[in-house]
Amino acid sequence: MAIEVLQMCPLSPLLEQELRARFELHRWFEIVEPDLFVRERAHAIRAVITGGHIGIPSELMARLPALGIIAINGVGFDKVDVEGARRRGVRVSITPNVLTDDVADLAVGLVIALLRDIPAADRHVREELWPAEERPLSRKVSGRCFGIVGLGNIGTAIAARLAPFGSIAYCDRKPKGAPYEFVPSVVQLARQSEVLILATTANASTRQLVGREVLEALGPDGYLVNVARGSLVDEEELIRALDDRRIAGAALDVFAHEPKVPKSLRSMPNVILTPHIASATLETREAMARAVVASLDAYFAGQTPPGAIA
Ligand code: 8YV
Repeated sequence: MAIEVLQMCPLSPLLEQELRARFELHRWFEIVEPDLFVRERAHAIRAVITGGHIGIPSELMARLPALGIIAINGVGFDKVDVEGARRRGVRVSITPNVLTDDVADLAVGLVIALLRDIPAADRHVREELWPAEERPLSRKVSGRCFGIVGLGNIGTAIAARLAPFGSIAYCDRKPKGAPYEFVPSVVQLARQSEVLILATTANASTRQLVGREVLEALGPDGYLVNVARGSLVDEEELIRALDDRRIAGAALDVFAHEPKVPKSLRSMPNVILTPHIASATLETREAMARAVVASLDAYFAGQTPPGAIA
């Protein structure tokens, strides 16, 4: 009999194909009557496959008695109750390392796009405003002071890419022995940075880490780039700061209530918005698919999943 698994969100074509070849796949996001489904099939679900941005609600997890593994197609596990899973003996796996380069590449792309105003320049050409109207001058990227919040794998990859552009300082729980200046507080880092880049893990202690105080410290010439999680930022404070030009601009790949992006943010000229695409390249999504499948295959073969965090 086929093993029944629950898929929480759309996944890459390769991953869906691999899952379908192995399991009887239930697509949670397409189920019209979730309560009925839970009553009738929840007892049979042995694995959940989900995105880092979606995870699984704890109430649903509690209703899956046969659950053995939650395989996350990503590295963020902030939307999964990992401790609760561990207590129940449920495995949790992620896709470590394979998406680091992509997230760092996007962060650098956003820094340059934001300071050089690339999206507006592109619109300028498309709307045939060139040469009738002059584009306002943008800001220089080279020579800037960059501040990175979180020097894990992704933060380190961002630092390595940005080091040729300017000076790098970072903030973390403790110094990482990296060749960059360690700054113990985010407020202090924001004060000395011209571009503040968020690359840290989302958890209770980093929730709304960037609020009024950090934004004030970043100041009217400062830029914020977030490729980590929306929960790191007090989005309402950010909107107010952007609106009042108390910071110069922001580039955001992640949001507080995805996929909802506040209208005010969407209408601001000093903002670049991307729909959580940091790991969304063909190559990386294929590598992530292989990592998810490797973890599931190992689990169902009675082995430790290679991407296990619980
Ligand atoms: C993905 C992510 O958007 O790795 C993460 O934590 O947020 C992203 O890589 C997502 O998990 C894709 O399913």
